[in-house]
Parts: sequence; structure tokens; C-alpha cells
Amino acid sequence: MTTRRMLAMILVGIGAIGIGASQPVMAGGDPENGRALFGHKHCDRCHVPRGQQGAGPPIEELRRPQGEMELAGRLWNHVPAMFSSLAVKGVEWPRLSLPEMADLMAYLQADAARDPSPDLFRGQVILMRKQCLKCHSLRREGGPVKPDLAERREDYESAAAWAVTMWTHTPRMAEMATRQGVPFPRFAGDEMVNLIGLLRSASATPPRGPAAGTR
Ligand code: HEC
Ligand code: HEC
Repeated sequence: MTTRRMLAMILVGIGAIGIGASQPVMAGGDPENGRALFGHKHCDRCHVPRGQQGAGPPIEELRRPQGEMELAGRLWNHVPAMFSSLAVKGVEWPRLSLPEMADLMAYLQADAARDPSPDLFRGQVILMRKQCLKCHSLRREGGPVKPDLAERREDYESAAAWAVTMWTHTPRMAEMATRQGVPFPRFAGDEMVNLIGLLRSASATPPRGPAAGTR
């Protein structure tokens, strides 16, 4: 199926739902807990104050006033490089729960109020441009990799929930992308807020049919 036809089918599906069906839930993390977690989860092994020797960007670059989805996008971009650098060092990939992610995001000065409201049309363009549908389907249109992106509503409820999902799964996604020669998608500015706005809207009603709700 052509990309244009696929996009048209998705638009029809989403058009039936209506815009602004739901608002994101605020993460409401605790920045002091987040500061402690930054140490407990070994983030501070690689992210050190500017001027010191660290494997990652200095803490001042991570910790700055920013949108929550903007930070989620930065995390997504960074997961593959961090994963391989941890693997080289033989350090285990840190697991992060939803409250822990919310605390870390609060410590890194992410605030949902700084994200613009999602633009669903731009979200559709981003979805095609980032090639998510080379692997996944959305409302049954697209590739064979599970899950269908309309079946994971809870993943899109908050920036922290989305960040936990990608923290857990992006290493395998990136690995598959490398194997298949699909460029691993990177996000800048408001691209993530628009994409997640679109996915949230698309999953407001799950696709009908026997494969729905396979979770
Ligand atoms: C093994 C070293 C290492 C550890 C541990 C590590 N990071 Fe990173 N981090 C990196 C590297 C390297 C980059 C830059 C990656 C890139 O350019 O793709 C990075 C980038 C980032 C960025 C994006 C910065 C930007 O400017 O966009 C964020 C946010 C981040 N890390 C958060 C964290 C958090 C939170 C933790 C702890 C849970 C953590 N990192 C643990 C190495 C690490
Ligand atoms: C090269 C193939 C590939 C591409 C491109 C890709 N994914 Fe994935 N995705 C995967 C694989 C493989 C998994 C399963 C990973 C796992 O189970 O650890 C997955 C899992 C997921 C999950 C499920 C996480 C969960 O909670 O189980 C979501 C949501 C997701 N991808 C969203 C996206 C979005 C959004 C894009 C585009 C920006 C994208 N994916 C692009 C291969 C891909």
C-alpha cells in the first residue's frame, strides 16, 4: 500500500473520533526524589557537572526548563547510544518505574505546561516521516510488529508513562531498526508532543475486529 493511501485511511479513522478527546495527565513528580534517583540509577556516572570528565552531556544540559514531551523526545533519541555505552561497560540497563520516571523528569525541570498543545495534523505527518508504520500498524494499517499503536492508550496518558515505555523498549526497537536498515527515528522540538497527541487520539476508540485488545 502506498504511504499516501495509508495516511488517508488513518485520517479517516481518526477523523471519526474528534479532536481534543482527552488531555494528558500531569506527571506531578517530586524533584527531590528525582535528585536522589539520579544517583541511585547511576545517571550521575555519565552526566556530571560541566567541566568534569563524563561520558554523556553535562548535567546542566539535561536539567533545564523544558516541556515534558520535549524531554521524552530527548530521552528517546538518547536511549540507543546510552544502551550501547552501558553494554560496553557491562553495567545493567537501569529499570525505571512510572513514579521514578515522573520524579526524574521533575528533577530535570520538565513541566507539561511548557509543551504546546498537540497539533494532530502535524502528528500525522510526523508518524509517516518517522516511519513508525514500517514496523507497527495504527488502526490495522501498516507493518506487522506488535503492538498496533492504537492499542496502547495507557502508554500515552502522560509524558512519564510514555518515557517509561520507550526506556524499556527502545533498545530492542533500535536493534531491529539497525537490522532492517530503517533509520532509528529522532525527535526534536514539538515533534513528540504532536505524535503522542495523535496516538492518544487514535487510541481513544480501539480498532474493531478480532485482533483488538490482544494485550
Ligand atoms: C553509560 C553512560 C550513561 C548513563 C549511565 C546515563 N546516560 Fe544519559 N546520556 C549518555 C550519552 C552518551 C548521551 C548522549 C547520547 C546521544 O547523543 O545519543 C546521553 C544523553 C542523555 C539525555 C539527552 C540529552 C540531550 O541533550 O538531549 C538525557 C535526557 C539523559 N541522557 C538522561 C539520563 C538519565 C535520566 C539517566 C539515568 C537514568 C542517564 N541519562 C544515564 C550516557 C549515559
Ligand atoms: C524497526 C522497527 C520499528 C520501528 C521503526 C518502530 N518500532 Fe516500535 N517497536 C518495535 C519493536 C521490535 C517493539 C517491541 C520491543 C520490545 O518488546 O521490547 C516495539 C515496541 C513499541 C511499543 C510498545 C511498547 C510496549 O509498551 O510494549 C510502542 C508504543 C512503540 N513501539 C511505538 C513506536 C513509535 C511511536 C514509533 C515511531 C516513532 C516506532 N515504535 C517505531 C519496532 C519498531
